[in-house]
Amino acid sequence: MVYQVYLRSFADGNGDGIGDLAGLRSRLPYLAWLGVDALWINPHYPSGGADGGYDIVDYRAVDPDYGSVADLEALVGDARRLGLRVILDVVPNHTSDRHPWFRAALADPDSPEAARYHFAPPSDEPPNNWQSLFGGPAWSRTPDGRWYLHLFAPGQPDLNWRDPAVAADFEQTLRFWLDRGVSGFRVDVAYGLFKDPGLRDNPGSYSPTLFGHGPEQAMTRDQPEVHDVWRRWRSICDEYPDAMLVGEVCLADLEQVALYSRPDEMHQSFSFRLLKSPWEIAAFADGVQSALDAFGEVGAPVSWVLGNHDKDRQVTRFGGGAVGTARARAAALLMLALPGSPYVYAGDELGLPQAVVPDEAKLDPIFWRSGGVRAGRDGCRVPMPWNASDGVGFSPDGAVEPWLPIPAEWERFAVSSQTRDGGSTLTLYRRALALRAAHSALGSGEATVSTRGDVLTVRCVGDDESVRCLVNMGAGTVLVRTSGPVLLASTTHVKTSAGSIALPPNTAVWLAED
Ligand code: NOJ
Ligand code: CA
Repeated sequence: MVYQVYLRSFADGNGDGIGDLAGLRSRLPYLAWLGVDALWINPHYPSGGADGGYDIVDYRAVDPDYGSVADLEALVGDARRLGLRVILDVVPNHTSDRHPWFRAALADPDSPEAARYHFAPPSDEPPNNWQSLFGGPAWSRTPDGRWYLHLFAPGQPDLNWRDPAVAADFEQTLRFWLDRGVSGFRVDVAYGLFKDPGLRDNPGSYSPTLFGHGPEQAMTRDQPEVHDVWRRWRSICDEYPDAMLVGEVCLADLEQVALYSRPDEMHQSFSFRLLKSPWEIAAFADGVQSALDAFGEVGAPVSWVLGNHDKDRQVTRFGGGAVGTARARAAALLMLALPGSPYVYAGDELGLPQAVVPDEAKLDPIFWRSGGVRAGRDGCRVPMPWNASDGVGFSPDGAVEPWLPIPAEWERFAVSSQTRDGGSTLTLYRRALALRAAHSALGSGEATVSTRGDVLTVRCVGDDESVRCLVNMGAGTVLVRTSGPVLLASTTHVKTSAGSIALPPNTAVWLAED
């Protein structure tokens, strides 16, 4: 299991209210105890602050808020000793507008740096109809009247990947971190990078759904040249003992997504179908089956995602309160049973809901650029509650306020109280991960998906055993026949009797088969 660490919100080591590498380092034993195999750290680089670190000023440095390169090396060393690998986030589609290249490009339209971005000559209208995924036009003006392209915030100018200097520089960046012992990269906007060379209009009308990525963005995503970049990056990773690439490939069609993980490209590309599925059996069954089919076709493991830093927390997405929590727990058992590589977003193992962040504290450009129409992503980025007896223990005693406010009631989600509670979501994740490590049928092997009424079943066949994961997605209790013991249930309310169990709504169970 890969655990996604939102660095700014994970653990504050020095009391400035901002999560950092020292804080993360001090919490590595927690991750090892939980049963994590690797961690992916959201961007740790010096940034312009326009988009939660996804606007990078220096790709071969650490933001002083988080520590230093030496701190990162120390983290990687400690992690390795605990059997954990560290994966970094790399952002090749765009830089910060404060990156030295963009500054040079602004200063001189004829500079080599200007060729590394997409500029268009001054004119009244932008060069085409392309829209920013954060809202508004994808073109902004420079002080001297030129247009420049940014598919995200104006502080994130898109790089021109047809300029060889861009590719060469990223290769240096990859090696810089790989030489420091990291085990690979999560690649941001891996479906992007190249744009239609003729700058033709996108067809049809634009839908502002974040990361919808249907045909309405035909000119700004999934251009054929991009695959050559991943082939090159794969060959670099192959020079290192355990380096892997996982791509953020936000394309509507999973078969297209899987093409990014052909044997000579990235090792994995995220399957976001479950992240986007409502609590509906047809959506879940299709989400699982289509991912198994698409990735099976190219021979890559499926990278399952239920939560990340861009999406409302599952508990809230699935209805909130007790029902949302029950469903999030059931969904976790489903994901952790499936063959492939699950990604767990920090805090999901605590069953955190989406936090209510007051508007004035919000930072997400999605909120601000939409004039407050779109809520933005701050609510899933609120710091982790560690300790119930002492505030929430995100920062050491006497620290300043955390960078995003933590709801007072989050004490009840704290790691320290959940550790002691046999029925907590944290205990459930830990048990599930231990079983997953112990059973060949869980997490690897062959899976068959079926539905009957409201029950989704995934039958997982391992070396010498099989396990069924059943999820009751309906409103009534369902009686299920069993031929072996219950390995784990997402609730303590599953009633077993000889040969059958009563599975309540919104719950999942792992059943061994004799
Ligand atoms: C995807 C990242 O997950 C998201 O947080 C970011 O805003 C965009 N890429 C742009 O870098
Ligand atoms: Ca700090």
